[in-house]
Amino acid sequence: MSVHGGALARRRFLQFVGASPLWAAPAMADGAAAPSITSAAQALNVFELQEVAARNIPPAHYGYLMTGVHDDRTVAANAAGYSRWGLRARRLVDVSRIDIGVTLFGQTFASPVALCPLSAQRAFHPDGELASARAAKARGALQMLSTVSSTSIEEVTKARGAPVWFQVYPTSDIEVAKALVRRADAAGAGAIVLTLDLLGGGMRRETMQRLARLDDRPCEACHGTPAERATQNLRRPNYQGIDTSRVRTISAPAFTWDYVSNLRAVTKSPLLVKGIMTGEDAKIALRRGADGIIVSNHGGRAEDSLIATVEALPEVVAAVGGKAPIIVDGGIRRGTDVFKAIALGADAVAIGRPYIWGLGAFGEEGVAAAMRLIDDELLEAMRQCGVTRLADLGKANIQHLV
Ligand SMILES: Cc1cc2nc3c(=O)[nH]c(=O)nc-3n(C[C@H](O)[C@H](O)[C@H](O)COP(=O)(O)O)c2cc1C
Repeated sequence: MSVHGGALARRRFLQFVGASPLWAAPAMADGAAAPSITSAAQALNVFELQEVAARNIPPAHYGYLMTGVHDDRTVAANAAGYSRWGLRARRLVDVSRIDIGVTLFGQTFASPVALCPLSAQRAFHPDGELASARAAKARGALQMLSTVSSTSIEEVTKARGAPVWFQVYPTSDIEVAKALVRRADAAGAGAIVLTLDLLGGGMRRETMQRLARLDDRPCEACHGTPAERATQNLRRPNYQGIDTSRVRTISAPAFTWDYVSNLRAVTKSPLLVKGIMTGEDAKIALRRGADGIIVSNHGGRAEDSLIATVEALPEVVAAVGGKAPIIVDGGIRRGTDVFKAIALGADAVAIGRPYIWGLGAFGEEGVAAAMRLIDDELLEAMRQCGVTRLADLGKANIQHLV
């Protein structure tokens, strides 16, 4: 058996994903599949990276990457939300110089497009987060690192050559979360990102389970027994040296806003909360000491039938009233999506699956390609719409489509 499963299983898998609404494989004008690209430099858009990633990544892991919950309606809604806005083009503005740099908490990045914290990336490519870090370094972009990354924050920071932002899952034992924050601070993290939106785990990720059935490699060979799998995250590098014996889950169903205040007291680093989907919660988060808000629904992996993040963004922007930076993620696939999010009031955006498509397709070069493509599309949209600075982007640059 090959690493990526037998040829028959592979063919069934590709037929399955090809018929899925989560698949946006590039097609020719006559509807026939476009030939696969063979290098990152050839990619015309992130979907061409996705097509190669689906061939390279083992089916069960590809299912883990792409899945939402239940019918994947939130995943689809996030991306579709951007289609309900159009750009307004202004003419005869000098657009010979366009600046897409952003400064967040005194840290300057060459692009408003950050890399989301995204689990253990060696599931998608042997170089995992180190490849993402090197690509982020080359592009001068912000990288957020997951608690459960396959490589420790110290090693990733070294590869990035600058502070990364560290994402923390609450865990049912706050002492563990505090220890993670202290570790991140000692590693020089630029900010702490507390993820609020996974409550208790166990949500039904149907696409993931269906694709796992098409993988002929036994999960136990790498992940151990079901009991071992249940605790595998606690054995990830960032937990090493931390007493996790009282942790039941890395999410925390009993979690309330007091938790945010308690964690706030542990660190002087900027603290962002990730998973905010309403203006009400954004206001509470600021009162509880959050320095920044990430409008996110975990890429549609936490609840189904949720509104899109771009639909939640305006009310969060209104509630925050310019008091804290806002980042939005979920469904961003094109530079025009970035343009729209910033026009609606986001200070920056973050991408999840698109850079992992790049990683799975071509490693570091693929991640850099995903970032380059989206940056280039953003530059093109700004040029065509007569906007030279992100700070000048606003509601006048977009129009809601009925
Ligand atoms: C496979 C996968 C793993 C993820 N792991 C984490 C994680 O460890 N921590 C976290 O805060 N968010 C995690 N997320 C959510 C992302 O940070 C982000 O919110 C989401 O991917 C954005 O949507 P997009 O993939 O449509 O761009 C994960 C998302 C995916 C797809």
